[in-house]
Amino acid sequence: MSLLIRNGTVVNADRSFAADVYCEAGKIVAVEPGLGAPQGAEIVDASGCLVLPGGIDPHTHMQLPFMGTVASEDFFSGTAAALAGGTTMIIDFVIPNPGERLLDAYHKWRAWAEKSCADYSFHVAITWWDESVYEDMGTLVRDWGVNSFKHFMAYKGAIMADDGVLTQSFPRALALGALPTVHAENGELVDYLQKLLLKKGIIGPEGHPQSRPPKVEGEAAQRVIQIAGILGVPIYLVHNSAIESVDAIARARRQGQRVFGECLTQHLLIDESVYYDKDWKRAAAHVMSPPFRPRPHQEALWEALSGGILQTTATDHCCFCGDQKAMGQENFARIPNGTAGVEDRMAVLWHHGVNMGRLTANDFVALTSSNTARIFNVYPRKGVIQADGDADIVVWDPQLRRTIAAETQHQQVDFNVFEGMEVSGGPVYTISQGKVVFAHGRLQVEPGTGRYVSRPAFAPFMRAQQQHNDRHPARVVNRGRPDH
Ligand code: URP
Ligand code: ZN
Ligand code: ZN
Repeated sequence: MSLLIRNGTVVNADRSFAADVYCEAGKIVAVEPGLGAPQGAEIVDASGCLVLPGGIDPHTHMQLPFMGTVASEDFFSGTAAALAGGTTMIIDFVIPNPGERLLDAYHKWRAWAEKSCADYSFHVAITWWDESVYEDMGTLVRDWGVNSFKHFMAYKGAIMADDGVLTQSFPRALALGALPTVHAENGELVDYLQKLLLKKGIIGPEGHPQSRPPKVEGEAAQRVIQIAGILGVPIYLVHNSAIESVDAIARARRQGQRVFGECLTQHLLIDESVYYDKDWKRAAAHVMSPPFRPRPHQEALWEALSGGILQTTATDHCCFCGDQKAMGQENFARIPNGTAGVEDRMAVLWHHGVNMGRLTANDFVALTSSNTARIFNVYPRKGVIQADGDADIVVWDPQLRRTIAAETQHQQVDFNVFEGMEVSGGPVYTISQGKVVFAHGRLQVEPGTGRYVSRPAFAPFMRAQQQHNDRHPARVVNRGRPDH
């Protein structure tokens, strides 16, 4: 299987240059101007287009069992939708129930994901603690290519990790060379505010943002960053949506702490007013956590992306259809949390980022693939167009126009939070493992062609952190033998 992409401009995170890209057996073999191709090679003409590393979405939840139902998007339909949008790898989540062995949950999710048609990997959530969790974390890192563990500070009574769990898990992850990641919202406060609002008779979706105001996120972000700082452990905060959490990350980074931050395309574009829609269905369709925020928060997120405070973009793709959302008709706290986005992340970020002058094309690549590949230690296999890397490539037409609509999407859900948005810029071809899997609006995918991607432990910053910690050992005073 060989493929030549001709006449395009390669855009990596560090530079852009005119070059052809030749791929063989799923790998990039050469990146140079004027390449020839052997007879029989497939030729893709990229004239007028950019040739980008395939997107990596580090935060998806395909077919997640959650809040009494199961997310409507499965691993096949979800990875197909990702490819249609130019994303060639996802990192999803194994979320064990409290008391469930991590390894059992991991193998369950691996079986579900076998039908994926794009490459995938897993973070594993730490939802409880005992000796077996400690042991299984080691096995997952050493034998199963897991290098990140997720902690939910919210969802009390379900999967919430309290400070005790965080304090056990973070040093264990560090010792294994794995990165702790965190959903930062104060779960106790959310629980209290939900009950308070319900008592006042607020049962509709407008209760959702009021029970999770920005300070609930900011408090948890600040606290978990301090906990990680005290323990000397790098940390990655998922789906930052508020000025308060961005400020907490910025403060810590200014002090030299290794803190990474992600933001979702949805939080960059949608504001809190959606929850006050008179139409219950539309309001409920936007229920996700953290919720959408008042306008000033969006500008702060854009600034944090262009200013390097946040390093990655994701979608938290977690689909629930109208009948599933209706489970919370009488109580907003029972509306399954989640929105879709894996198909639209790249185009929405391009349009509102690059076309509006907030980001350069190179920033776009950094924020949609390269930084994620580095943080989760699959760089340069992924996240860059260079020889020896995986041939996961997007031929991107900056002029391609599309109006986003649930009616025409590949995502398996009956709603799109970006409905009616016109975007310029999108994939003409998506190439996965050296094969064209999406061309001119048509998917050519088969279940089971995606591969599980093992992610090695000890990304360079994890090693550096251990070295740093070793240079600052606990102080001991030798006072000789006590004389009584
Ligand atoms: O609302 C959301 N984000 N649902 C998925 C679970 C999570 O918190 O990431
Ligand atoms: Zn979350
Ligand atoms: Zn999530």
